[in-house]
Amino acid sequence: MLRRSSGGTWKGCWRGRGEARAKRVKSRYPRTNMLNRRNLLRAVIAGAVPSALVLGQDKPKRSPDVPYVPTTEAAVEAMLKLAGVKKTDVVYDLGCGDGRIVVTAAKAYGARGVGIDINPERIKEARANAKKNGVEHLVRFEENDLFEANISEATVVTLFLLSNINLKLRPKLMKDLKPGTRIVSNTFDMGDWKPEREATVGSPDDIDSYLSHHLYFWTIPAKK
Ligand SMILES: C[S@@+](CC[C@H](N)C(=O)[O-])C[C@H]1O[C@@H](n2cnc3c(N)ncnc32)[C@H](O)[C@@H]1O
Repeated sequence: MLRRSSGGTWKGCWRGRGEARAKRVKSRYPRTNMLNRRNLLRAVIAGAVPSALVLGQDKPKRSPDVPYVPTTEAAVEAMLKLAGVKKTDVVYDLGCGDGRIVVTAAKAYGARGVGIDINPERIKEARANAKKNGVEHLVRFEENDLFEANISEATVVTLFLLSNINLKLRPKLMKDLKPGTRIVSNTFDMGDWKPEREATVGSPDDIDSYLSHHLYFWTIPAKK
């Protein structure tokens, strides 16, 4: 309810309320906190801290290299089959989207899995997907740039990226993965690294699955 201030103006009334509020805020947030909050704001303006973090928004820390297009369910099954996934495997999906590949590997084969995606929205969906399918104990999802993630534990890596991103990723796969680690890519190859096996799913003319039609398989060679 508005009250006239002692000064007799509505403006004075708001000033009086503002001062009282400032006192309440000051007592709730001691000076050090106020300073930290101000510094944080300065850091955001200077671009040192992403504003999305401070505002709690779910934005990727940088633009994804590839847009989100899910692998069809039929192709997920075919990719896991092509990789020969078994219970003892640790399946990493780099750019995991809604987590369907690692969730299916856990549900169908009892394999452990890790999904990495730069988009926090995808990570939320993937965790919900794992919960819905009762495999939370077998999988985890990490919001991260796939180029920076630790992938050394993987025994199987799945990809649905782009040819140029596969090529950019190739040195990391060679460096970080153990010899014998199997790699399966949906649709996109690895340039002059010829696949050991290939498989197809459905018809290339089917509009729903033309991007989940051709699959490639490689294994990491022995270190030189
Ligand atoms: C084509 S979708 C594939 C999703 C899932 N792997 C599948 O097959 O259903 C590519 C995914 O990669 C993610 N992505 C793109 N660039 C990335 C990066 N640098 N690091 C991590 N994830 C990335 C996107 O957010 C998107 O979810």
